[in-house]
Amino acid sequence: MFTYSLIPKVGLKSDLLVLFVPEKALKNSFEYLESILPDYTIPIKRVLDHKDFKGELKENLLLYPAKDNIVRRILLIGYGKLEKIESEKLREIGFLIGKKQSAIKAKNIHIILDNELSNLNNAVKSVAEGILYSGYSFNEFKSEKKDKNIQATYCFLSIKEEIKNNLKSEFRKLLAINEGIIITRNLANIPSNHLTPRILQKNVKNLFRDVKSVKIEVLNKTQLAEKKFRLLLSVAQGSKQDPSLIILRYQPEKSNTKKIVIVGKGVTFDSGGISIKPSANMDEMKFDMAGAAATVGIIKTASILKPKTELIGIIPAVENMPGGNAVKPGDIIKAYNGKTVEILNTDAEGRLILADALAYAVKRFKPKLIIDFATLTGSIVAALGDKMAGMFTNSDEISDIFKRAGNLSGDQVWAMPLLDSYSKLLESKYADIANIGGKWGGAITAAKFLENFISTNKWVHFDIAGTANDVKNVDYLPSGATGYGPRLFFTALEEIEQIL
Ligand code: BES
Ligand code: ZN
Ligand code: ZN
Repeated sequence: MFTYSLIPKVGLKSDLLVLFVPEKALKNSFEYLESILPDYTIPIKRVLDHKDFKGELKENLLLYPAKDNIVRRILLIGYGKLEKIESEKLREIGFLIGKKQSAIKAKNIHIILDNELSNLNNAVKSVAEGILYSGYSFNEFKSEKKDKNIQATYCFLSIKEEIKNNLKSEFRKLLAINEGIIITRNLANIPSNHLTPRILQKNVKNLFRDVKSVKIEVLNKTQLAEKKFRLLLSVAQGSKQDPSLIILRYQPEKSNTKKIVIVGKGVTFDSGGISIKPSANMDEMKFDMAGAAATVGIIKTASILKPKTELIGIIPAVENMPGGNAVKPGDIIKAYNGKTVEILNTDAEGRLILADALAYAVKRFKPKLIIDFATLTGSIVAALGDKMAGMFTNSDEISDIFKRAGNLSGDQVWAMPLLDSYSKLLESKYADIANIGGKWGGAITAAKFLENFISTNKWVHFDIAGTANDVKNVDYLPSGATGYGPRLFFTALEEIEQIL
């Protein structure tokens, strides 16, 4: 769907030719285009004369050249002040191009963005990413289906030879990551009555049915009881839906002893349990399995990209409900790793299921690195809002890598503290630890709680409660699930592989 090429001197056939115009620079862009494609510039000349186009960010104007048979339309897109160009803005511009393409049903699109931009390859990548995102919608539960978008090809044109460097493999990577993001969004968007732990497990099996490099294993309720996942079972016991632990193993062709485990919080609905939540916005708790969805998305992308490290996804899947058999505040439960936990608030359930899953992952797989994605606390939303996930890690190297990957990928992270002094807040009168800390610093005490269940492994925890769904003011993110995770992970992976 994406290609690149040097600008042909004559005979460019295009349904849509896109020209990027920096603020107040239409004249330059016009002269540039005239020098390379003199046949189609008349309508631009007229816009220039009328001073109708300022080149402000995302300003856009569709023009129709007189000679319809070769270049049928020209789209001018403003990208504002040149010094302000960032990947994030180029993604939004790409998104806009994609939306225009689908509105006018253009099949073959040419994009010129090298008239002013310096880091061309990076710009091409970001625009392509935005175009990919423009194709997403979640209509599974709408009776009226939208028309399927037609397949379009986008060709990035340049006069510079350098455009060829790496782009092919970059496009392949973008497409593979997008597949993972789509799966992450789709799973997270499904409401809880259509996505119980059992259905999640079925969906995961279906997704990888014909994928040779990925094996799925499931522990059901009975097996979980045998293996003493008591914390996980305690969260599930108030619900009529049985819990399960879903294990996804991506194995590279050449076996690799270095493993990365990715654990994703899979609470298919979080009512809070006996410590029940207030009713306002409780519907959003269907997204409380966005970490699990990201885990599935990452394994999907891996199955296409085939990285050299073995990746293991682990999803503790439960529904958190009040009920006659539900776990109650004050109950004390023994975790998979033997520590006793006093449950003081049944709404702090994510850390309980993650505790057992992390301890199990460490014991069974002995990974070099363990990562978890979890919509864990309201506190991280209070601290960082919806633009950044909270990152907690015991490794400075890993922290640096993910900071870079966050900036590059657009799935932003902010490093949060794991100071030992916060652990005191989790002391319990009757058990080894309590499942909640004090009133303040809730995202940090939640992370400190998890730390009890990893061993000496490198570990990084992402609290994605703010970033997983309904992020405001980012054009290219849909409402509902954002698909946070896969692009962060795969932007970091190569660097991580070097230090493991
Ligand atoms: N799933 C919630 C966290 C959450 C809150 C996600 C808002 C998305 C948006 C989690 O299980 C929870 O309820 N956490 C409690 C912990 C508290 C009881 C210590 C919270 O953050 O309020
Ligand atoms: Zn909760
Ligand atoms: Zn929760």
